[in-house]
Amino acid sequence: IMMREISGINEIEVQLKKKLNLEDVIVVPGNSDEEPWVKNELGRACALRMKACLTGNNIIAVTGGTTMAAVADALTADFSNDQQEVLFVAARGGIGEDVENQANTICAKMAERSGRKHRVLYVPDQVSPEVYKSVVTEPSIKEVLTLIKQANIVLHGIGDALVMAKRRKTKDEEMEKILQGHAVGEAFGYYFNEQGEVVHRVQTIGLHLKDLPHVEHVLAVAGGVSKAKAIKAYINSKPKSTVLITDEGAAKQILACS
Ligand code: G3H
Repeated sequence: IMMREISGINEIEVQLKKKLNLEDVIVVPGNSDEEPWVKNELGRACALRMKACLTGNNIIAVTGGTTMAAVADALTADFSNDQQEVLFVAARGGIGEDVENQANTICAKMAERSGRKHRVLYVPDQVSPEVYKSVVTEPSIKEVLTLIKQANIVLHGIGDALVMAKRRKTKDEEMEKILQGHAVGEAFGYYFNEQGEVVHRVQTIGLHLKDLPHVEHVLAVAGGVSKAKAIKAYINSKPKSTVLITDEGAAKQILACS
């Protein structure tokens, strides 16, 4: 607590909450672009917050990315108690990430570390609309989709649009759409411009933007000065009742911009 007061983190949280008009904001010290340990702090802060959200019956839908992986690393066996049911579910099917960054991998790890169960969403990347239609009628997939819609907690990262598009080896024509649309931010497969409008979305099943208002707790975790624009863009899309967990680097950068 002393450290937080000395570094003025509490004041930054108050200002950022006001500026972004969010329900709650948590800021950890440092800049995760520069210091890797800051991402672990983001993970820890998210794990704590998530723990505080738990009720008797929990379905936690999880997306991918390195920040979500840090959240998984922060989970331990005392995450939940015997009175609490917890199921981790992958929020999205394949969206072009390498295995270690995929929602499936991360949600399996969260379950393993916390001693709980998980369900994955096996959907191949980049399938045709026809294949898609039949995939979603598969009973095993349908079941997971139903669980996602029942999630009371959603955890997701926010990425810089171009960084994410490149990392996912996005096809030229989609890249064109992302560039033409001036996308700056990305979250669970949706690409947003500065105004928070969706300019592109990866065709995959799972959690959609329109599902978020029905989720009790949405925790968005993203830090680093380089993500300031992306975070602002996503928040401009007015996601309902999101708790933002970020770092000092991103927070100060957002506060410095008009
Ligand atoms: O959707 C956003 C990305 O998953 C963020 O990825 O945490 O590796 O920056 P990252």
